[in-house]
Parts: sequence; C-alpha cells; structure tokens
Amino acid sequence: MILLKGGTVVNPKTGLHGKKDILIDENRIIKVDDLIEADQDVQMIEVNDLYIFPGFIDLHVHLREPGFESKETIYTGSRACAKGGYTSVVCMPNTKPALHSVEVIKQLQSIIEKDSVISIFPAGAITMDIAGEVLSNHDQLFESGVVALSDDGRTTMNIEYMKKAFTSSRKWNRPVMTHSEDHEVTKTLKESIFPTTAESDIVERDIALCREMNGILHISHVSTQKTIEAINNAKIEGVEVTGEAAPHHFALSSEKVDMSSTLSKVNPPIRSEEDRLKVIEAIKNRTIEVIATDHAPHETASKERSYGDASFGISGIESAFSVSYKALVESGEIELDQFIEMLTVNPARIARLENLGSIEPGYLANIVVVDLKQDVVIDSDTFISKGKNTPFNGYVGKGEVVGTIHHGKVVYSKTNGRNYVIG
Ligand code: DOR
Repeated sequence: MILLKGGTVVNPKTGLHGKKDILIDENRIIKVDDLIEADQDVQMIEVNDLYIFPGFIDLHVHLREPGFESKETIYTGSRACAKGGYTSVVCMPNTKPALHSVEVIKQLQSIIEKDSVISIFPAGAITMDIAGEVLSNHDQLFESGVVALSDDGRTTMNIEYMKKAFTSSRKWNRPVMTHSEDHEVTKTLKESIFPTTAESDIVERDIALCREMNGILHISHVSTQKTIEAINNAKIEGVEVTGEAAPHHFALSSEKVDMSSTLSKVNPPIRSEEDRLKVIEAIKNRTIEVIATDHAPHETASKERSYGDASFGISGIESAFSVSYKALVESGEIELDQFIEMLTVNPARIARLENLGSIEPGYLANIVVVDLKQDVVIDSDTFISKGKNTPFNGYVGKGEVVGTIHHGKVVYSKTNGRNYVIG
C-alpha cells in the first residue's frame, strides 16, 4: 500500500481542489480523505507543497514500434511518457508495418506487455499501410483492442473510405482521429510551409462526412482559425466532434521561432501569432477540449538535412507539461482546474477509457506529482526519448513533474539532484 500524504489534489472530474491524503492498494485508489493514518505496512510518501493530479492522458503520440526503432521504442517512449507525467497514451498507426491488422496489433500488444511502464492504447489504421488505397478490417481491429481509427501522418483522401470509417466509429462507439491535411495541395509544396486551408478544407469535408454518416470525429492537432470555426459550428449543430491542440501550436508562432530550422518543421506547421491566439481562445471557450502532444521523435540524422528533405515532427512528451502550464495557466489564460481537465478527464471521455482520468476510490491508481513552483529549462540532452528534435531547447517552462505512479507503482521519481528512478 502507498499513502500519498499532504499534497494538494486537483481532480476536475469530482470538482476536488484541496489538501487530501490518498491511499493506494495494489493497482487501485482505495481512499481519498482529509487525514489518513499510516499503518505499518504502508509506504508513506510525503508530498507537502506539491500538487497531485490524475495521471495525464495523451490522445496523440508516435511511439514508432514496430519498424522505426531508431526513432523510438516502446521501452524508451513509455519511460519518456512517465517522465512527462503521462500514464495512458494513444499511439498512432504510422509504424512499419502500419497498425492495420490483428497480427500487427497483437505484435505491438506483446511488446507493450513486455517493455512499457505505462498504458498504451493503439489507434488502428483506417486503410492498409495508411496508404489510402485499401480499407483495413475495422471490425477486426476493434475486436483486437484498438481505441480509435486513424491514418495519422496522412489524411484518408478517399471519401468512401472515410464514410466507412465513420460508420465503424458509431458501430463501435469509438472516435475517428483525423490528421487534417489536403495531400493534393501539400504534395506540390515540399520546400514551403503548408497553408492553413490545407488543414481547414479537409476538416470541413470530414465534419460533413461525419454528419452524413452519424459518426464520431476527433480532430487532431488543431492549429488554425478556420478549423476552430468549423468545429464550433459542428458542435452547435450537434455533430459529435471534438478537437485537440498541441503545445507547439499554442506556445509558439512563426513570428517567435526560426521557421527555416528543421527543428521547427512539423505537420501541421507552427502558425502565425494570430492563429496561436485563436487556438488559445478556443481552449478558453472549450471548443478545444484536449491538450495532446503529437510526440513525434526522430533520429538526429533525419533532421540534419535540407528543409525539404527533413522529417516532420517534434519530440514533445517530456516538455509538454511545463510548456503548456506556462503558456496557459501561469499566463492567466485558464484556471489550473480547466488545464488538468484537458489532460485527464476530457481525453478519457473522448477515447472511452474507463476507470481513468480521475482520483477516486475504485479508479486505477494513475497519479502524477508536480512541483508547480519550479522553473524548467527545456534541454533535449536530458530527454529519455530517443528523439531530441525540439524547437523548445532553452525555453523556460513552469512546473516540474517529480513523480509518476502507474497502476499503483512508482514509474518515475525525481530525487534531489537530476537523477531519476524508473520502476
Ligand atoms: O509532424 C508530424 N510528425 N506530424 C504528423 O502528423 C506525423 C508526425 C510523425 O509521424 O513524425
């Protein structure tokens, strides 16, 4: 048994925000109360002056296994997630082979079982090899345990396949997670930044198809004003659509970073200051309900190329909390409770992850301990992830994850120095 004593618990699902002790037995939370006495067989962890949140849930990470182990593995990626405070993540299907069949999902699940220190839920590919040409077997994928359908990394341009995906989403009560990018537009633009309409036009198409098929749609990495307007209008109409934003889209803008650096090359691109402010406004008014990292690790060599040839993506899971807390809460844009809601209960609801995203008796004991007073200088040399590709190097974030508990077990703990222990 573990007793977390003296921390300030923020748990948006139950509206709790105050000092409480938490008792954990095996993998579950069994008690949350003002003062819990420690029995002899209890391991007491003093968390005075620290904040306690439900383990964070990321709906959008690339963990690269199988096939791209030089970029990331389940072993390194899951430990990087634990260091970032994440205890549950949805991994995207652009692996090799893609997560497009029962065989590949089973292979991945056995690697997760062996190597992961957190919970990893796969998203199954809408089409074989995410190539957009042959539909995958959605029923079999859901039966094997995927929590969403997505061709992320690419957009499914074939309208009939998207309709099938939305039909499957309603049948299985799970979302289609779309990467919104019009490949007809972007394939001609190797050296230049993709325009905002390449995103928003496809979002509008997908919302229309979702409405027609009565599907469930979650729009990944929303980065621009017209996408936000489309989501907002669809919500008003009653279409089941949600959206997520990535830290680099609300903390950075093209006016603030070196856009010619391959470290800033990401898809969708870092946008203008005007778009950045619109993303923050959409977070404030809850059009965007989730923060998701789009953690996209790459080996250094694939970024040390000409701009046009370099890989897209930012290794973001270890900097996400301090970057986001600084940009959204310390800056006064939103309250701490809404921020934590976006990292816990909202993603759990959208991906239908049961018994996750809340600190209450009966729930799985996934908990993160954070020192909100700590400044954090982002330094990719300290990343556990194999991907050191970040435009945030040197950025001073706020709030440091000092401990992560997954299923009742300490999987990350920062000690006084810069050392950490992974269980
Ligand atoms: O920048 C990106 N990188 N965007 C994506 O959608 C895919 C990702 C990757 O897989 O590297």
